[in-house]
Parts: sequence; C-alpha cells; structure tokens
Amino acid sequence: MLGSLLLAGSRSPLARRAVSGFPVTRKVVDRFVSGVDPGDAVETTRRLTGAGLAVTIDHLGEEVRDVETAVGAAKAYVSLLEALAPLELGGRAEVSVKLSAVGQALDESMALDHARRICAAARDCGSTVTLDMEDHTTVDSTLGVLRALREDFPDTGVAVQAYLYRSEADCRDLAGSRVRLVKGAYREPASVAYQSRHEVDLAYVRCLRVLMAGTGYPMVATHDDRLIAIAELLADQQGRDRDRYEFQMLYGVRADRQLALAEAGSRVRVYVPYGDDWYGYFMRRLAERPANVAFFLRALRGK
Ligand code: FDA
Repeated sequence: MLGSLLLAGSRSPLARRAVSGFPVTRKVVDRFVSGVDPGDAVETTRRLTGAGLAVTIDHLGEEVRDVETAVGAAKAYVSLLEALAPLELGGRAEVSVKLSAVGQALDESMALDHARRICAAARDCGSTVTLDMEDHTTVDSTLGVLRALREDFPDTGVAVQAYLYRSEADCRDLAGSRVRLVKGAYREPASVAYQSRHEVDLAYVRCLRVLMAGTGYPMVATHDDRLIAIAELLADQQGRDRDRYEFQMLYGVRADRQLALAEAGSRVRVYVPYGDDWYGYFMRRLAERPANVAFFLRALRGK
C-alpha cells in the first residue's frame, strides 16, 4: 500500500515539489546517490573498484520531454566516459542508460542515435552500456533499440523485469546477450505483471533458469539473499564459472553484502547514480523498503 503510494508519488509533479523542498532531503538522497557532478561518480568509481567491485554508472534523468535535455543527457554520458578513460578500468566501469532520458518519448530514432553515441564512447574506453528497463509501455521500444544497437555493439546489455508476464519469453529471445535480471520497480497493472512478492520471486527464478542455461551473460541484480543463493546453485548446475555471470546491487543498499560476495570470489557490480534529477529514482528506492521511509521521516524530524 505504502509502496504503491510512493510509486504514484514518483510521477506526481506536486509530490516532487513537496519532497524536493525539504532541506534535509538532500542528506537522505545522498545515501542512494553518489553526488551531483560527474567528478563525484568518478571518485565513487575509483573507491568501489579499489575495493574489488565493478560499477555501472547512471546519469540520473528520465521521461525527458524536450530535445535539449535529451541531447544534454547523451553529452553527459559521453563526457563521463571520457573522464573514466584514464582510469583504464575497461568493462569494470560501464554505464546504464534510460532511453527515456535520451528522448525515447519524443522520437525513438533520436533515442537510438543518442544511445549509439554513448555506446561508441563506451567502446573507445573498452567499456559497455546496459539499457535500464522502465514502465511496461516502453519494453517493446527498448528491446527494438537494443536489437539495433547490438548490430554494431553486440556487448550492449538490457534489464529484464521478472514481474512482467512476458519476461520469461523475453529471456529466451535474448539468448547470447548480457541480461540484467531485476524484480521490477514500477507500479504495473495486473493485466501485465504479477502483483504479489511471492509470484514475482517465482517468476524471477524461472527467468534465472533460462538465463543461466543460455549462452549469454546473466547479471543477477537483487539484494535478496534467497535469490542470490539460487543463482549460485543454478550457475553451478550449468557449469558456469564465477566469471560467466555477475551479481549487481544498488549504491547505498547492502554495501557489506556487496563486499562479502566479492571477497568470496563472485563478480559484483554496483549501480551508481549521480546527477541532480534524483526524484524518481529516490522515490522508487523508498517504495522498495518501508524502513527507508522511516529513515527519511526521522531525518525530517532531525533525529
Ligand atoms: P527485495 O525488494 O525483495 O529486497 C530484498 C532485500 O534487499 C530487502 O529485504 C532489503 O533488505 C534489501 N533492499 C532491497 N531494496 C532496498 C532498498 N531500496 N533500500 C534498502 N534495502 C533494500 N528495476 C527496474 O524496473 N528497471 C531497471 O532497469 C532496474 N535496474 C536495477 C539495477 C540494479 C543493479 C538493481 C540492484 C536493481 C535494479 N532495479 C531495476 C530495481 C529492482 O527492480 C528492484 O526494485 C530492487 O532491486 C529491489 O528488489 P530486490 O531484488 O533487491 O528484492
């Protein structure tokens, strides 16, 4: 219930103004966002990779409705990748892109064009791009853009949301790709998505089976210990070594678990967002866990 309200709020301009207006909000946001400037993201990358983790960096922004902002987002990614190049991290530092941030809602071909430029900049520094997945109305378009990108940049990855009924079939179609499997973070109707946690978890395992048995590179994006254990078991059953799949978690969520997995020999990548358009991302993180709301409210009361 609270989660649904927060997800509804994540798309409300009124709620955006109210939440952004609290002076302490920034302090709470900082738990999930690495900073405002590209320099903050580079510094976080340096720190996390120094600790044995990989990163995927997200320049915050979504649902862009004007060309100028879409162009700016694509440029921000290219500059970020140029700033990362001297660190010589190759694929240990990649980027995650929301197509809606680079113009998907305005013109799909413009978003493809921007994504191509970002992929080219990533390739120049030996890195890759993964497309985030947004609400269900964008899935066909995002997978279409992915197919076009993979003709020139076959390493381009995509997120698949286990909560959508269609996703098991999508996992089959994405054989040979880098696929980030997530539970799904948007408010979706029962006509397209499982609604209960239990059903979503079962769907996640079904998708995981397909990916682990396939020829691609599964990216198991979850903080859920049961799913992490199942992923390890399935990888083992399929004879997949630990360098043929990876775990992914969000910046600011279960940092100790990220390090423990990496120290035990798994590949672990942290999703690192930066930028000032943090509202939608932050609200989805609150919706995922009621304790985060309590943390936010305590900060508001100054405790
Ligand atoms: P679940 O929500 O059941 O959490 C399991 C446990 O993890 C919780 O009990 C808690 O301990 C901890 N936890 C989870 N979320 C937390 C939070 N916000 N704060 C504190 N603790 C938390 N979604 C999407 O729709 N499109 C996308 O492209 C992506 N991309 C993406 C990348 C990466 C690297 C990750 C990890 C996640 C995404 N997601 C996403 C978000 C995803 O769909 C999902 O909402 C979150 O990962 C939460 O689901 P879990 O699998 O972690 O399980």
